[in-house]
Amino acid sequence: MLAQEVRDIFAAKCVECHDETVARPKGEFGYVLDLERIAANRKWVIPGQPQKSELYLMVFHEEMPGDEASAPPLTAEEKEIVRRWIALGAPSDHAEVATAALSPAPQPKPRELPFKRRLIRAIGQFHPVSSHFPIALLIAAFPAEIMWKRTRKPSWKAAVRFCVMLGAASAVFTAGLGWCDAVFSNYTGASAPVLWWHRWLGTATAVWAVLLAALSEFAHKEKYPRTLRYTFRALLLVTILLVSISGYLGGSLIYGLHHFRW
Ligand code: HEC
Repeated sequence: MLAQEVRDIFAAKCVECHDETVARPKGEFGYVLDLERIAANRKWVIPGQPQKSELYLMVFHEEMPGDEASAPPLTAEEKEIVRRWIALGAPSDHAEVATAALSPAPQPKPRELPFKRRLIRAIGQFHPVSSHFPIALLIAAFPAEIMWKRTRKPSWKAAVRFCVMLGAASAVFTAGLGWCDAVFSNYTGASAPVLWWHRWLGTATAVWAVLLAALSEFAHKEKYPRTLRYTFRALLLVTILLVSISGYLGGSLIYGLHHFRW
């Protein structure tokens, strides 16, 4: 657009002496409509700096087209168009270039993560939320176990098995989410060792909970060795401890190591 306007002005006021059709163009300058070539000549045009561009100064001071020309000097408006053209970098033929330069430069979009990584990040966000599941279930298994020991009601036994089974499954799930989350987390300084311990204790807890679930299935058979029962109870307590410490460390990543106070 702008380039075309400039070319129109030149076509109206300069071709008489500087067009390629003129047998002996003045000043050996016979390509006034070839903006690209003009803009490339630093003697005439310094893109972005009209005040230092000889071409602009010449039309501004009306040295060109000059007294001999049949065309009148450029009007103020035409001079302004030439000035703007140079100010915007003297774009040549390409209309888009000129319009793009006139309108505010489009902001580059923030680089989007590839879909796979976006998906992983979105999933990982549920890690803190989901972690409350195994905590609740694995801990709930303990009072259920106590109730069974007291009452011998099969429903309590079923409750223990259910809690441990689901608790173990969701512990594995939570650890998996944690590893997704880890890809996008960056803890430095004092938090770095906390993350390390949280990560590995959490992963260990998940593995531990699976083993506990397997043990739970054996320990709740009709016929079971008493020692297996006691082992199960002891390991369930260790599980609760592991879950609690992992959870505490996870919370510390957000609230700081000493977020439990009274
Ligand atoms: C009547 C003839 C005439 C017209 C019309 C004319 N010029 Fe010129 N132009 C000349 C002559 C003669 C020279 C060479 C001597 C000089 O620099 O005065 C020249 C030289 C130039 C030069 C080269 C300067 C250099 O570095 O040697 C430029 C650039 C130029 N003209 C631009 C224009 C532009 C832009 C227009 C239209 C707005 C224009 N001229 C219209 C006669 C003309």
